[in-house]
Amino acid sequence: MTDSKRKILVTSALPYANGPIHLGHLVEYIQTDIWVRFQKQRGHQCTYVCADDAHGTPIMLKANQLGIEPQQLIDQVSAEHQRDFSGFMVGFDNYYSTHSDENRHFATLIYTRLRDAGHIARRTITQAFDPEKQMFLPDRFIKGECPKCGAADQYGDSCEACGATYQPIELKNAYSAISGAKPIEKDSEHFFFKLEDFEQFLREWVDGHVQSQMKHKLNEWFESGLQQWDISRDAPYWGFEIPDAPGKYFYVWLDAPIGYMASFKNWCDKNGVDFDDYWKQGSDAELYHFIGKDIAYFHTLFWPAELHGAGFRTPTGVFCHGFLTVNGQKMSKSRGTFIMAETYLKHLRPEYLRYYFAAKLGSGIDDIDLSLDDFRLRVNADLVNKVVNIASRCAGFIQKKFDGMLDSELTNAALYHEAVAAGRSIAEAYEKREYSRAMREIMQIADKANQYIDTAEPWVLAKDESRLAEVQACCTLGINLFRVIVSYLAPVLPQVAEEAAAFLNIDTFAWNAVEKPLLSHKINKFKPLMQRVEPEAIEKVIEDSKQNLQAAAAVASPAPAKAADAQEPIADTIDFTDFAKVDLRVVRIAKAEHVEGADKLLRLTLDLGGETRNVFAGIKSAYKPEDLEGKLTVMVANLAPRKMKFGVSEGMVLAAGPGGQDLWILEPHEGAQPGMRIK
Ligand code: MSP
Ligand code: ZN
Repeated sequence: MTDSKRKILVTSALPYANGPIHLGHLVEYIQTDIWVRFQKQRGHQCTYVCADDAHGTPIMLKANQLGIEPQQLIDQVSAEHQRDFSGFMVGFDNYYSTHSDENRHFATLIYTRLRDAGHIARRTITQAFDPEKQMFLPDRFIKGECPKCGAADQYGDSCEACGATYQPIELKNAYSAISGAKPIEKDSEHFFFKLEDFEQFLREWVDGHVQSQMKHKLNEWFESGLQQWDISRDAPYWGFEIPDAPGKYFYVWLDAPIGYMASFKNWCDKNGVDFDDYWKQGSDAELYHFIGKDIAYFHTLFWPAELHGAGFRTPTGVFCHGFLTVNGQKMSKSRGTFIMAETYLKHLRPEYLRYYFAAKLGSGIDDIDLSLDDFRLRVNADLVNKVVNIASRCAGFIQKKFDGMLDSELTNAALYHEAVAAGRSIAEAYEKREYSRAMREIMQIADKANQYIDTAEPWVLAKDESRLAEVQACCTLGINLFRVIVSYLAPVLPQVAEEAAAFLNIDTFAWNAVEKPLLSHKINKFKPLMQRVEPEAIEKVIEDSKQNLQAAAAVASPAPAKAADAQEPIADTIDFTDFAKVDLRVVRIAKAEHVEGADKLLRLTLDLGGETRNVFAGIKSAYKPEDLEGKLTVMVANLAPRKMKFGVSEGMVLAAGPGGQDLWILEPHEGAQPGMRIK
């Protein structure tokens, strides 16, 4: 059944080292991991490498903002990423960093080869420059008014209000998102990769190496013309300096995919494997990249062209997937559906999600939806009620009546052989990344196994001593069908497979092992392999995700960016839109009271002109409660309620002063009325 042993190198995209792993990312890492586990189970030499994508302006600025070195930031984030991946059983053979010696070596090598072959152009371009920070500003770090519709606070590349795209220089009243300064125009020499040199090569390469939906996309890109790609950035930049150009650095996307090679090289050196055997032109090893559709341009044009131009082999396949939505919508922080890997793992078992994604994933680039109700029902119906149930219905009888010993032959062997035969089509589905089909076909076997047990009724037979042989026969088939099913599910459910192997008293689930049933074989005591997904656990995930949002808002860290260059800037200033969100109101202090056990706090009941709020304020050292009652002050009325030790605080009153006794509640006068908005 297995074709001869293949050498396969597999990668997932390298996550940015400035944000946590969330369920959207996991679509990709779980999809890849299932494929890799499947290949390994089939007996192939399959290696799965990844790394953190550690360079670029957003990472440099975030480290600045945190007051740490970039190296410290990327070390920290890498540890978190690896913790989350292993929590979801994503089994990389090597997890590395693009900020590594190997990557510097290959980035330099590829660049010099391309340069020497005439594929690098140099020319001077004019760009926006922050005179305060003394740095060029990437498009996403310039904001201003849209040149088309005039909307305020739009990014330098496109307008979120009217959808227009433009050059940052066209923005009106532009300002730096980093310092707030007005950008000036400045010239600088940049290095460009001449992508157009590779058009013919790419047009041919596309055939057979990308999905059909991607092929259409690529044809559109060819039609609109291949542009030269700017691969250099000026200092200050966090990345690798270009060897023959001091003060110029490789753009993060130049060395990011090269990170695949670097991680593999690092693994080769540790395992005595020949790197060139995989990467030389004409290599017989297969190379596959799993990526999201947002980064297809980089992987299907720049990357194969760079490799080809530098004399390396090109990818065997680039597998693109769609984006994750939750409950039919984009993941949303306020709805609690922007779920971090870590948050999910606090409440739910990783294999639930692995199975659900598998049940949803096809080979195309369509988005996939995680509907939380469907998730719970599907996992419970398929894994708990169908699969695990088979073993729990049969194991007890074998254990109690036959001392754990399975029968010496199979009755109803036809059903068993049918299950084994289905493996061919299931394997083909895995190979083609049609996981939803694989899951469907596996569940059909599980249905048949359950129907068989329903009809045989071992629990009825077991009451009749003269029919014990039938009980053993029926349960032996049941257990053997369970083994086949778990073997097919092993790429998706590694822990269930491991525990099932212990129960079945077998070493592995090598793909073809099921051809031979377990007969006259002793099994171990059965322990429940999986509990149901409870609705409460899902509610907790949502609840915690909402709270993460508040915690994140408190440190003003931006949402992890989705697209290649779409990382949000981290500013030490807030812009006007942020300021405008603050709802400042005049309020009357209706009541002020001491709080039992609190040194600094007073409990204030605030009258917003119709509505009252309970707010705790740390002003006890400056005011006696009775002096405050009846006074007007200013509050932030739309601060998210915060649970404190003494109760929920529903806003914040503004005060000024050095502290202690010199702390003055801001008191508006001249006709202020409770409820009045300020600004
Ligand atoms: N650093 C780049 C990749 C460099 S590869 C040489 C990057 N990083 S990322 O952290 O933004 O994304 C990593 C992968 O996760 C990408 O393939 C991306 O498409 C995927 N996803 C990120 N959010 C996703 C969803 N919401 N849904 C599905 N996949 C998502 O891009
Ligand atoms: Zn606009």
